[in-house]
Amino acid sequence: MKILNFFPLSILHDQINLSDKKKNSLLDEVKDMKNNSKNSKPKPDDRSWTGDTQGYEFIHKNPKFSDFFLELKNKIDLYLDFLKIDKNQIETYIQRSWVTISNGKEAIAEHQHLQSHLSFAYYLKKTPEDSNFVLHDEVFRNEFIPGLFSSKTLKDKKVIKEMSISTAPKIIVTVKENDIVLFPSKTLHSTEPNKSNNERISISGDITFLSKDSSLLEHLTPSFENWNKL
Ligand SMILES: [Fe+2]
Repeated sequence: MKILNFFPLSILHDQINLSDKKKNSLLDEVKDMKNNSKNSKPKPDDRSWTGDTQGYEFIHKNPKFSDFFLELKNKIDLYLDFLKIDKNQIETYIQRSWVTISNGKEAIAEHQHLQSHLSFAYYLKKTPEDSNFVLHDEVFRNEFIPGLFSSKTLKDKKVIKEMSISTAPKIIVTVKENDIVLFPSKTLHSTEPNKSNNERISISGDITFLSKDSSLLEHLTPSFENWNKL
């Protein structure tokens, strides 16, 4: 017998190895951002500190991060190559980027980044005990009976004897310091809850693609050089 698997979700999982000196300088920048948080509303105790809600949503504009973003571009190119996309016909933009800091049980709930195309998380500081990256299925293609893989009672009674990659409603991706994951922005994702984080620091951001030449194309956003502000 063979099983044919189709319509996968493909996530790039790679490393960006910056020098210790560079990483320490970025960690100093991160500490400065946190110490100068601009949002006067206190964040919920169970939620991580996210720079984009604290006045720091464009760290790609900070020259200290430029080495990192150069490396990021290489990873985006690898992902586009994997999907056999012609990089010569699209332009890659970073539109938003920020730092996330998690201490103790702080976590990030399930969410998507619907205003962009690809998103990434890079782990600047992480111990093996800190929370990992979690992907959530929304399509459940193999769930031939509604609730079959997500029902608590079915799980408790072991109707499903064991979860597998073909049935799991969520997948925990184990990530280490220096790892990067790159994924379609519409993918529902979160961090692992109920882990004890020891100042886990990640960098996230959102990538948008525009067409280089929009003539005869219907489904790519034309370059903003042709836009007018109304
Ligand atoms: Fe996210």
